[in-house]
Amino acid sequence: MQKLVQPELSRRELLISSAVTIAVTGSVTRDVAAQSTGKTMDYSSNVSFSVNGAAKHLDLDNRTTLLDALREHLHLTGTKKGCDHGQCGACTVMVDGRRINSCLTLAVMHEGDDITTIEGLGGPGDLHPMQAAFVKHDGFQCGYCTPGQICSSVAVLAEIKANIPSHVTGDLNSPVQLTATEVRERMSGNICRCGAYSNILDAISEVGGMRA
Ligand code: FES
Ligand code: FES
Repeated sequence: MQKLVQPELSRRELLISSAVTIAVTGSVTRDVAAQSTGKTMDYSSNVSFSVNGAAKHLDLDNRTTLLDALREHLHLTGTKKGCDHGQCGACTVMVDGRRINSCLTLAVMHEGDDITTIEGLGGPGDLHPMQAAFVKHDGFQCGYCTPGQICSSVAVLAEIKANIPSHVTGDLNSPVQLTATEVRERMSGNICRCGAYSNILDAISEVGGMRA
């Protein structure tokens, strides 16, 4: 019986050849699309929005996330890239007052929006009350998650003030109360690997005026 010959391919060679295949087929698909329409495909768009009160106009690849637009194009590196998958909250910014994970949204989807990053809340010598409270209560260690934590905290207090219920809100017929349980639930999308959670809660409680 004829013996099967197994080609020898290292894991590294396999990964390289897979990457090359993906790159080549991607560009071939684009070329075919361009030939069939007779047009050169354009993958960029102009987008205009406000960032921290200043008008910004960018010409971006349509696939650029809001996070990358802020960090790589506007050089606002206060907003952090942690997981880039919507799982850590390090990239939290506020869009029209609502917090979002900027790694999960495309910049071109935010035409006309009003975006606030950590730089827009305050800076050295002019800290936002939440920034000052994080410092006072040691609400961080490495600080990498902190811009996202602070943006989220500010939005959390606004959500509660606006009477927006969360998963743990018990009585939907009464105003939402600022409690430790509400804050923990609402901040659960912001992960801190240093485990500064209790101090973060203290900072938010103080700014929100929560009774002990
Ligand atoms: Fe966006 Fe982690 S970087 S959620
Ligand atoms: Fe280090 Fe939160 S302070 S991850």
